[in-house]
Amino acid sequence: MAETTYAKGLEGVIAAESEVCQIDGARGKLYYRGYSIEDLAEHASFEETTFLLLYEKLPTKDELDDFSQRMRAARGLAEPIQSMIRQFPPAGSPMELLQSVISYLSSSVEHQIRHSTTCNCRDTLHQIAQLPTVLAAYHRFREGKSYVEPRSDLSVGANFLYMLRGEEPTPEEGRIMDICLTLHAEHGFNASTFTARVVASTYSTCYCSISAAIGALAGALHGGANERVMDMVEEIGSKDMVDAWLDKALGERRKVMGMGHRVYKAKDPRSIVMEKMLTDLSKQRGDASLYEMLKQIEKGFRVRMEEKGKPIYPNVDFFSGAVYALLGIPRDLFTPIFAAARSPGWLAHILEQRKDNRIFRPKALYAGPEPRAYVPIEDR
Ligand code: COA
Repeated sequence: MAETTYAKGLEGVIAAESEVCQIDGARGKLYYRGYSIEDLAEHASFEETTFLLLYEKLPTKDELDDFSQRMRAARGLAEPIQSMIRQFPPAGSPMELLQSVISYLSSSVEHQIRHSTTCNCRDTLHQIAQLPTVLAAYHRFREGKSYVEPRSDLSVGANFLYMLRGEEPTPEEGRIMDICLTLHAEHGFNASTFTARVVASTYSTCYCSISAAIGALAGALHGGANERVMDMVEEIGSKDMVDAWLDKALGERRKVMGMGHRVYKAKDPRSIVMEKMLTDLSKQRGDASLYEMLKQIEKGFRVRMEEKGKPIYPNVDFFSGAVYALLGIPRDLFTPIFAAARSPGWLAHILEQRKDNRIFRPKALYAGPEPRAYVPIEDR
């Protein structure tokens, strides 16, 4: 009998087994390989989190030292890549630039995957170590500034801010940036991770998989909500305009950016960590106006949604745009930073896919015309 049903967008379909990430949407919990996001944010660096994702365990001190050294040694950009960034068309997006750099880097690697099911991404660490440097260089070049060599005595987050600004950030700023990367490092079978796994399942290289994943993340339905939160803040203008704006926006059935989540039906645990960092940063800056505005939006939205019996909570994007803005990061780098932060998660899934591979090959429910006679062009 012909099948007649399917899951649009694969919603609710379990497409693989995975040991990388557990999301408990009902209780608002997130774990990378069994470790809670709260513990990782508080105790682990982005490098340690990356090791956990790639090697399936927390590193010993020696393992972490060795791994950090390898990651840091891989940060610098070769001259041809710097020149490629300089010459990238100004109308191009930084996400396209990241895809191009990944493809370029791929050509310098002898890919093991052509001969076996393993992958050399853990050896080169290209996708994780170089992307923050690419973004910092991209921003500096477009401002007419020079390339800043990465420093090997700074964490990934601190070094990114250093390369972006050309000045060392405060230890607090560096730590906040590092935690932002950790919070975005992995999140289960979302569209970009699934894309990476589909490409990996064909035995294509990890570079092709990551480039495809970046392409998936570039779409408006996946990355980018934090940029739109900041657009929304700008559109509202001031705290006293929040209620009127909410009434109008919800009346027009517009979505309030940074609110709600397909999986979390409680507060997104990452938003709680983000909010704390935003309050810390606001205090350091002596200006809490952005934070207060966001809280006003959160409160006004909650009240209105509760009246409709639909409690909706902030997601990770609600506070992250403001954190990045206070760190001086331009808005169009928010999604590319997400890509750089997510690369360890993508690679962990690529490695997992290869360990027990079966090429993805779902079916479609055919809804086209029945077989029919070809019509010669002069008779159409
Ligand atoms: N603003 C206004 N209404 C919202 C909302 C938001 N941010 N999020 C959910 N709702 C509404 C839905 O439209 C739905 O209303 P309905 O019952 O009249 O159809 C109801 O609340 C329940 O929605 P729910 O099923 O919980 O969410 P969803 O799975 O349909 O949508 C998102 C999830 C993420 C797509 C949605 O919340 C959204 O678009 N958020 C804003 C964009 C954003 O921040 N994205 C980043 C996600 S990490």
